[in-house]
Amino acid sequence: TITKPFIVYPDRTGTHKEIVHQETSGPMIKVVNHKAYVISSYVEHRLSSKTIRTVAIVFRSEQVQYYCLLCCNGINISAAARLDIHSDHFEFDYGTADITCQVPTTCTTPAYVAITSKTHEWGRSVWNIQSFQPVGNQQPRTENFAYAFTVCISVMYDYMNVLGLVQAMEMFKLLGVQKVAIYKTSCYPDTQKVLDYYVRQGFVDIIPWTVSSYIKVARGWKKSDSPGELEFFGQIVALNDCVYRYMYESQYVALQDLDELILPLKEDNWTRLIPQLEKIYQHHAGFEFENNVFPISLSSNKKPENTPGFWKQFKGENILPHVYRIPNDPNVFNNFKVIVNPRLVFKATVHGVLDSASGTVRVDPKIARMYHIKRYPSKNVRANSVIRDTRLWDYVDKLIPAVSEVLRQALNIQ
Ligand SMILES: *[C@@H]1O[C@H](CO)[C@@H](O)[C@H](O)[C@H]1NC(C)=O
Ligand SMILES: *[C@@H]1O[C@H](CO)[C@@H](O)[C@H](O)[C@H]1NC(C)=O
Repeated sequence: TITKPFIVYPDRTGTHKEIVHQETSGPMIKVVNHKAYVISSYVEHRLSSKTIRTVAIVFRSEQVQYYCLLCCNGINISAAARLDIHSDHFEFDYGTADITCQVPTTCTTPAYVAITSKTHEWGRSVWNIQSFQPVGNQQPRTENFAYAFTVCISVMYDYMNVLGLVQAMEMFKLLGVQKVAIYKTSCYPDTQKVLDYYVRQGFVDIIPWTVSSYIKVARGWKKSDSPGELEFFGQIVALNDCVYRYMYESQYVALQDLDELILPLKEDNWTRLIPQLEKIYQHHAGFEFENNVFPISLSSNKKPENTPGFWKQFKGENILPHVYRIPNDPNVFNNFKVIVNPRLVFKATVHGVLDSASGTVRVDPKIARMYHIKRYPSKNVRANSVIRDTRLWDYVDKLIPAVSEVLRQALNIQ
């Protein structure tokens, strides 16, 4: 195996050793005889003929004619596939790909699919029942979604920031989010307890992410800085899966990280913000929110005074004191994250979408923007230019008691 399954680390009290929880099985099937992996398959209803789209990871130099083996009402049918490798591979050997097959008219319900490179090998040993997986999104939907907003957290690896996790989750709730999907590779025991708590509540779905057990994943974007065969833990693959997984479950999906908060400045929550944006921009596909860095090295010692002392015993960063923003230059390109209507997206990427029905529009940062509280090289901080921005504190009256309650319940603190 490529990843170390166990890492020992001192626990909260410093007296015990902790072991990282590593996911061992998840949605990842190797294509027989090829350097290709299937994550999940969905019915694609938006093309002129009914298609099955499989989110996959392929070795880019290996161009193969794939086939879908469809299980339709108990009958096996083979259909030739098209391979489409996404352009945002950052020159790594492996990249995100769509493997698509038109569903033959004789197949009314393509319930299961397996991806192969051979067409007629039924009954041979290579095709076993494990190669097949259920096809999602059988029924399209245009209204009555289970959730208004789903947040897709595409990377969770060796995660130990308990306080940051609970603060993010409770902020998401205040913003109107009803589901958080976490593509999880590994985390520490206290983090796992918090995740278990939210899973029991029905607020979090864990998608076990085992890509690093099959492929040497990079820990970053730049091939020169981060050795490996696939970009940042396969983040783009996870984002694409998330868009399709929640396409008919969620009215909108937000593609962001746990240390990022998209905050409206005039409204209280996304529930109010998004209809406003749709009206202002006459656009319904998706919105880009400008990234603003709040360095962890800068903190206010004034407010909020009511931060409970017992928070200090948890690993991780309390986001509340970090209210100094590095100004963005309006004349240069500023990065962003998106909230999109998943039914209008074909290909997602880290900052926005690669392929969609009508693109995304940039939101005026005076209406809403992204608060990104992170470590930031202090040499890049010009102290006299930072802007004090306490928008986050407008939420603390609700946020602080909610966070305390979760910490108590999830971690059994008196
Ligand atoms: C379809 O293929 C699978 C896998 O090879 C096999 O187990 C099953 O018996 C086949 N079904 C039919 C009806 O041929
Ligand atoms: C969003 O904010 C409005 C007030 O601005 C409030 O009435 C509504 O209940 C909030 N929605 C959610 C989901 O929190």
